[in-house]
Amino acid sequence: MPRLELEQPSHEIILVRTPHERQQCYDVRIEVFHHEQKFPLETEIDEPGDKATHFLLRLTPSLTPIGTIRASRSDYAGTTTKRQSYYYKLSRLAVLKEYRRYQFGRALVQRLHDWVAQDAIAPRATQQQQGDDDDERQSNFAAPVPPASHVVEIISHSQIPVKGFYAKFGYEPEGPEFDEDGDPHQKMVFRMPVGISVDKNTVAGN
Ligand SMILES: CC(C)(COP(=O)(O)OP(=O)(O)OC[C@H]1O[C@@H](n2cnc3c(N)ncnc32)[C@H](O)[C@@H]1OP(=O)(O)O)[C@@H](O)C(=O)NCCC(=O)NCCS
Repeated sequence: MPRLELEQPSHEIILVRTPHERQQCYDVRIEVFHHEQKFPLETEIDEPGDKATHFLLRLTPSLTPIGTIRASRSDYAGTTTKRQSYYYKLSRLAVLKEYRRYQFGRALVQRLHDWVAQDAIAPRATQQQQGDDDDERQSNFAAPVPPASHVVEIISHSQIPVKGFYAKFGYEPEGPEFDEDGDPHQKMVFRMPVGISVDKNTVAGN
């Protein structure tokens, strides 16, 4: 079917800073993943003390929430042959049904990539400073300084019908399909150069 050129409604994507904004992300997730896709409600309630970074897509000027995405950074367990000892996770990407196909999903992924590009070269705490072993921690403090340019891995556990969406951004399948929350998923990995000037059109190419 030929793709319709839809005029994108006026909108903004904000980095969530308040409990109210975070709740609005949960509301979108509950609508999409629980009511629409029938995943259990409890999978949409993040752990207390969750340190993931959330982004909220909302219409302007009404500020009506219509989409969200979540980013987190984790350490690879134990020794690793990976180039970096850490990776990022993209999760909980959702756009309300009536606002799909306006390139909003693309905008949310691009916003997350931009955040990763900044976060990956930001000075940060040592393991000890970061405190306990939290899978979804945010990262923002003092030394050590990361290499000026390197490649980071961003991982998504993709639902099977959405693999093609992630592939558009350069995500590649890795390993077999697996069950998550009662539904088959595929690990998709994007290796993103950071710390060097990258033409966004080539990163987010079709
Ligand atoms: C996945 C989702 C976020 C995509 O959002 P969207 O705003 O409709 O997508 P966009 O309009 O930004 O699409 C960007 C591109 O991806 C393509 N695309 C969208 N959904 C796709 C899919 N399921 N499979 C393959 N390609 C897809 C679009 O055609 C578009 O291609 P183009 O840039 O070449 O024209 C949205 O469908 C959604 O919220 N789905 C329900 C929740 C979900 O499944 N989340 C993912 C969990 S892993």
